[in-house]
Amino acid sequence: MSHHHPEHQATPPMKDFSRESWEERYRSRDAMWSGRPNAQLVTELETVEPAHALDVGCGEGADAVWLAQNGWQVTAVDLSATAIERATAHATAAGVDAHIEFTDADLDQVIANRGPWNLVSSQYTHPEQGSRWLVSTLAEAVAPGGMLLIVGHHPTDPHAAEHPDLQRAAFSAEDVADVLSRDAWEVSATLRERTSYEADGRERLWRDSVLVARRHG
Ligand SMILES: C[S@@+](CC[C@H](N)C(=O)[O-])C[C@H]1O[C@@H](n2cnc3c(N)ncnc32)[C@H](O)[C@@H]1O
Repeated sequence: MSHHHPEHQATPPMKDFSRESWEERYRSRDAMWSGRPNAQLVTELETVEPAHALDVGCGEGADAVWLAQNGWQVTAVDLSATAIERATAHATAAGVDAHIEFTDADLDQVIANRGPWNLVSSQYTHPEQGSRWLVSTLAEAVAPGGMLLIVGHHPTDPHAAEHPDLQRAAFSAEDVADVLSRDAWEVSATLRERTSYEADGRERLWRDSVLVARRHG
């Protein structure tokens, strides 16, 4: 999945989640993520009819490219200009650049000026304002009948447990889900385990918090 890179254990902890820190981190290596779409995104969207999607914190663009390849018209936004450059190159190489609009900006600026979208996806975005802010901000950008999909590290994720920066960003889907009114949303909040393989073949366990919410039409 795109979130983790085989070498990522060598990455020092981030001092904060500001634009400068992300930009510095992307510039420190040629590729940060694997180029493959995130597992939870693929699982949730394989059977959903494509329309307009917003991918926030899109990183190097693997999810946006996968969505476009599956018929979605995508708006993809990331704080890091370097990440957006790489994502644009990835989309061009995949032949789907006409279906994705990349923007290097803060997600709340894009949401204030655009939308709504039928799908709003955030995969491990970890904004400085925290995950409850993320849920309430992104919820405003979802069209009636649309889907909000927010994935992050659960506090008990072994990797998050080792990294103080990720531990701060970790959340449980149930905790953040109570930001959404059940009158307006059908909510599923789960903890999902999955495994991936490191470059050296070692198996690695991940514990993802997955919030899937459908806005009533
Ligand atoms: C852990 S990376 C995940 C990237 C990608 N979603 C993936 O799974 O590979 C988090 C990304 O969110 C971006 N980000 C963090 N806060 C943001 C914000 N407020 N607005 C836009 N992007 C943001 C960072 O620049 C970074 O690229």
